[in-house]
Amino acid sequence: MRIIIEPDYEAGSRRAAQLIAHLVRQKPDCVLGLATGGTPLGVYRELARMHREEGLDFSRVTTFNLDEYVGLDPTHPQSYRFFMQQHLFDHINIDPSRINIPDGRALDFERFCRSYEERIREAGGIDLQLLGLGRDGHIAFNEPGSSLGSRTRLKMLTPETIRDNARFFGSEELVPRLAVTMGVGTILEARRCLLLAFGEAKADAVQRTVEGPVTAQVTASALQLHRDVVVVLDEAAASRLERREYYRQMEQAQMRLEQEGIRALLPGSERS
Ligand code: F6R
Repeated sequence: MRIIIEPDYEAGSRRAAQLIAHLVRQKPDCVLGLATGGTPLGVYRELARMHREEGLDFSRVTTFNLDEYVGLDPTHPQSYRFFMQQHLFDHINIDPSRINIPDGRALDFERFCRSYEERIREAGGIDLQLLGLGRDGHIAFNEPGSSLGSRTRLKMLTPETIRDNARFFGSEELVPRLAVTMGVGTILEARRCLLLAFGEAKADAVQRTVEGPVTAQVTASALQLHRDVVVVLDEAAASRLERREYYRQMEQAQMRLEQEGIRALLPGSERS
């Protein structure tokens, strides 16, 4: 895992947006996996700005969202479809036919979930999957106990997630109990995963995800098995990482490597 620690939410969001923009420039027809929630809002703002001011082109990009609440109409202000339009799609030049979000109103969910996985495969797989982190260590709606091999399916939200998401709905009673979500296995097939976590409330989940054992009780910990994961944190979210100074040094070395080549890291090169 590559751990990047930025001073705050804004800097972390900019850093994550730069990683995404780099991919979009390098591979204009890339496939992005997207997330909702409070975490990626700053990233979407920055991507919209890059489109507006720097001409970042999304016209050939395909997107797949991680999840959607069951029972919500796409016009419901708390549906993830509505969220994506409001915070990203309305502000960039994406082709609407290339947007994929699970349908929370499908009647035959088993069939729908199979076809969602099929669509991801047909698109060539996900190049970069953006992920937020739940306080209980979930990614997408893969709540504690979810199989680490799980595929897109229906999942029941835990009381903790219902409480966390009540802030968007106004009260706990209004939060849907079920969601359709990509599985951990689906996420692990993305070529790169970009996990974001900001704020003190995520510090414990971050520590367990990065430094704890791989366990279905913390589904994000399965990312330890993936060969290309970038974790972008702010100082508060990184505050409980035991090896955070080492991660900082690693990141500095990585930056020097990218800018100056391997010679910059050889013994005796510090002063040269
Ligand atoms: C959203 C999603 C969730 C959130 C997580 C964190 O599509 O899949 O896993 O990323 O619950 O939510 P926030 O960002 O609101 O703290």
